[in-house]
Amino acid sequence: MSTPRKLVEVRDLKMHFPIRGGLLRRIVGAVKAVDGVTFDILEGETLGLVGESGCGKSTCGRALLRLYEVSGGSILIEGADIAEASPEELRRMRPKMQMVFQDPQASLNPRMTVARIIGEPLLEHTSLSKAEREERVYELMDQVGLNRAFANRYPDAFSGGQRQRIGIARALALNPRFIVCDEPIAALDVSIQAQVVNLLEDLQDKLGLTYLFISHDLSMVRHIADRVAVMYLGKIVELAPREPLYSAPLHPYTQALLSAVPDPDPAIAARRQRTILTGDVPSPANPPKGCNFCTRCPQVMDICRSVDPEFREVAPGRFAACHLLDDTVSASGHGPGRGAQDQKTNQQGSMT
Ligand SMILES: Nc1ncnc2c1ncn2[C@@H]1O[C@H](COP(=O)(O)OP(=O)(O)O)[C@@H](O)[C@H]1O
Ligand SMILES: [Mg+2]
Repeated sequence: MSTPRKLVEVRDLKMHFPIRGGLLRRIVGAVKAVDGVTFDILEGETLGLVGESGCGKSTCGRALLRLYEVSGGSILIEGADIAEASPEELRRMRPKMQMVFQDPQASLNPRMTVARIIGEPLLEHTSLSKAEREERVYELMDQVGLNRAFANRYPDAFSGGQRQRIGIARALALNPRFIVCDEPIAALDVSIQAQVVNLLEDLQDKLGLTYLFISHDLSMVRHIADRVAVMYLGKIVELAPREPLYSAPLHPYTQALLSAVPDPDPAIAARRQRTILTGDVPSPANPPKGCNFCTRCPQVMDICRSVDPEFREVAPGRFAACHLLDDTVSASGHGPGRGAQDQKTNQQGSMT
């Protein structure tokens, strides 16, 4: 089998939001929402992006589509740097990459009919005739399982799941290659979440789509993603293919996150101990010195409080940023990487 092509290449991406203060509204600091992330997304794959609320997932997804002016780094999409693209280049790149939002209610204009919402990108980016546009809208409605007869209704007339289908149809209108799905099912009833996930998976197979699938729901990501990136306080701490990430996480933060999720494999579930993280997530405006996770890590070492660990390939295809995985550290007397037994654990506890 040939190695899949990289569709998206992100290098040291930073998105800092300025904080203004005082009478003159001068810049007094920055929220480092995304603070130097590096990863690839392979053609046709689903890369899951997980982490607690506020860790920078949405900002990362939006920055990838240049919905923000990024603060640093590069984003190559099919080789072209979108972070540097001119408005004209950006307009040409737009159709190839789209976003499906968390809240279909908020992202659909309530005064536009479904046909207009889905057809708007066609109006903006193509020279299709009115009849051709109408035909394409019907085709898109079929593709996402919406009844054509409802084309002239308004979003209010639809259920949450149907509204998300409208959002997906709109995202598909221009035949994108790459879609950022930002918590696409988080606002939906549990009973219809699976339907929307199945639809996204079917569309991926049929249309050869590549997804960045953002979610705080680790079980859902395990179901849908080929590889998973774990974010904490603006950085990716671990990235690995799904199976090894869930069965043998390397980073203490991933271990803690997963210890709070029930494992479908009883053998793994029995072996697993719950890790309690104490303390709050530090503010992204004032991250700790050294490793961002050092204030809450159950296995923190001295070096973690002064040196930010490098995000690097620690085993083939597995990336992590942690001094516990640093050979030179263990060799120089800080002790070998400790196993799960040494972690502070509590059978009843949960992550705080
Ligand atoms: N437009 C913005 N201006 C200032 N701060 C922002 C903005 N958007 C997000 N943030 C901050 O950036 C951090 C990451 O937010 P976000 O990317 O929404 O996280 P997540 O999607 O993982 O919950 C949070 O601290 C949030 O308050
Ligand atoms: Mg978010």
